[in-house]
Amino acid sequence: MIKKILFISSLLWIGLSFIPLQRDSQELQEIIGNENVHAILKRACLDCHSYQTQWPWYSYIFPTNILIYNHVKEGREELNFHNWNTLEISKQQEKIEDILEQVEEEEMPLKSYLLIHREAQISENDLNILRNWQKEVNTKVQELENIQE
Ligand code: HEC
Repeated sequence: MIKKILFISSLLWIGLSFIPLQRDSQELQEIIGNENVHAILKRACLDCHSYQTQWPWYSYIFPTNILIYNHVKEGREELNFHNWNTLEISKQQEKIEDILEQVEEEEMPLKSYLLIHREAQISENDLNILRNWQKEVNTKVQELENIQE
């Protein structure tokens, strides 16, 4: 009886691991020529917020396959750096505000991701780089507004 249950469970597990999920991955151009910002995002965010996802081995087995797939899918829907360079600067400004808020409140990167990806921790230095990025973009928006006036 136990053997039968184990046998059926392992079949089920293999079956659930073979659920076809589209695990695509594409190279991402550097984000607005900002090397330092790009490096932070690459380390901590791009797996879920771009098409440049590195799918680890446990994304191929149940149940992490479904969990990770959903994180990436939802993450890309919320924010996808693949379209970053095509966004208007005022839109980028809004997104950066959102990004800083998420990072400062330690909502992002997701806790479950940090457990495995220690390199994704955001340091005080990273935060400063992100804040400077925000300042640069704010200044650009301000300059544009001045021209339009
Ligand atoms: C493991 C996947 C994953 C990683 C890594 C990740 N995110 Fe997310 N992110 C998500 C998911 C899923 C959502 C949508 C659900 C939610 O808000 O929790 C999201 C939502 C967001 C949002 C929109 C939130 C809102 O409510 O407006 C922002 C901004 C964001 N992430 C920024 C970041 C930044 C910046 C990083 C890196 C420092 C990062 N994320 C890393 C998965 C991830």
